[in-house]
Amino acid sequence: MQDPNPDNENAKLKDLSHKQALAYAHDLRKLHTQMQKHFEDTISAAVRAIEAKDEYTRGHTERVTLYSLQIAAKLGFSTNELKILDIAGRMHDIGKIGIPDAVLNKPGALTDAEYAQIKEHVNIGRQIMAPMAFVKDSNPAAFSHHERWDGKGYPEYR
Ligand SMILES: [Fe+2]
Repeated sequence: MQDPNPDNENAKLKDLSHKQALAYAHDLRKLHTQMQKHFEDTISAAVRAIEAKDEYTRGHTERVTLYSLQIAAKLGFSTNELKILDIAGRMHDIGKIGIPDAVLNKPGALTDAEYAQIKEHVNIGRQIMAPMAFVKDSNPAAFSHHERWDGKGYPEYR
């Protein structure tokens, strides 16, 4: 029932609008938290997929990520840059999923052809990450993780 006093009616409407705005903000925060969780789960699943396939990578991904973050923190990376690097560290060897097991886990020395296959993991990784919008800022760092200061790394030798 409408209040005969227009000031009271306006106050009620204002209060209702405020409560609705708070409810929307709460829902948005909840959705954002859920999306972050899905994002983290997706990254963790990708890391587990690499580690299940490649014995060498087990523990390697975690160490690379940890050391990279420690160095970056000393270099003064921003919080956002550290987040980008964290994802790059965790995803950097995702392309190994596309390397044949016989080559990836070969116990002895690799032939030149096998080594060339191994090196393809950075290109495969870039292709895997390309459609994932939430890792797009991390893709260049992951793609470049075998480059070297002296230009003797790969895949672009820069
Ligand atoms: Fe690698």
